[in-house]
Amino acid sequence: MAAKIGHKIISQLSATNLWSQIPTSYANLLARRLRNMTMNILVAGGSGGIGRGLLESLSERFPDAALHSTFLTQKPEDLPMVDWHQLDVIQPEAVKDLASRMDRCDWLINAVGFLHTDDKGPEKALRSIEADFMLEHFRVNTLPTLLLAQAFQKILRQSDSPKFAVLSARVGSISDNSLGGWYSYRMSKAALNMAIKTLSIEWQRTIPKMVVAGLHPGTVNTGLSKPFQANVAAEKLFTPRQSADYLIRVLENLQPENSGGLFAWDGRQIPF
Ligand SMILES: NC(=O)c1ccc[n+]([C@@H]2O[C@H](COP(=O)([O-])OP(=O)(O)OC[C@H]3O[C@@H](n4cnc5c(N)ncnc54)[C@H](OP(=O)(O)O)[C@@H]3O)[C@@H](O)[C@H]2O)c1
Repeated sequence: MAAKIGHKIISQLSATNLWSQIPTSYANLLARRLRNMTMNILVAGGSGGIGRGLLESLSERFPDAALHSTFLTQKPEDLPMVDWHQLDVIQPEAVKDLASRMDRCDWLINAVGFLHTDDKGPEKALRSIEADFMLEHFRVNTLPTLLLAQAFQKILRQSDSPKFAVLSARVGSISDNSLGGWYSYRMSKAALNMAIKTLSIEWQRTIPKMVVAGLHPGTVNTGLSKPFQANVAAEKLFTPRQSADYLIRVLENLQPENSGGLFAWDGRQIPF
């Protein structure tokens, strides 16, 4: 919340005689320190249902934060407080390019995900397994988190309180699987959970102040869940904004000692 205050102080100071009297090397150092007071947040996939909810929630919770977000197909035109970047998050060079254009990042939340196409839904049984459909799940649900971690670790390290969160899913928990089905989605999210755990171990050594977390948003009314909402009780189907408000609260409360876990919208940890 110290947020854009730093930028305001710089612009007010630079308009006075005082600024010109400070030796250049000190002025540069001071400007750098003041700029660092701004909280920078990147939401990958802000064009999606939950991603948009997160941006709305973040802009209210941290009104002075600099919000960045990515879209793949169409830039949302009605969220003017967001600095938008087009990104195909499965392309390593594109992810690196985005990281090189941002000089700070305190929170990074990956809300990109995939469950079904227009003509193929999650598998109910073994006979529905198709290689390309399964690989697409790993390409979109698993790989991008590690590409983002790889590209952004240098600037996340510079934050005083960095947080790296990913929208995962309860159905990716192996111990929670009592219904079966949804092979590709379950497997890609289970692999994502392993990526989160493994990354947290590496960063405990190299960036000890970091929090890495998987987040389960509940069942949320978005395009991704639309075909599967029939049996969900009305009070258990969250609006994107409702889920986002819960998730931001969870993320705010997580500390480095919680790093590597999967947390539900109500803050409870889900066993892998
Ligand atoms: N909705 C639920 O009930 C629910 C439950 C549990 C977990 N989740 C998880 O929550 C996350 C968000 O889900 P949602 O419901 O918000 O889904 P959604 O509305 O379908 O949004 C999906 C997002 O992923 C982006 N995307 C897909 N492929 C991409 C790629 N190659 N490069 C960049 N962006 C790509 C889309 O970008 P464009 O729109 O710009 O193409 C969109 O922003 C997913 O990981 C999902 O598994 C959702």
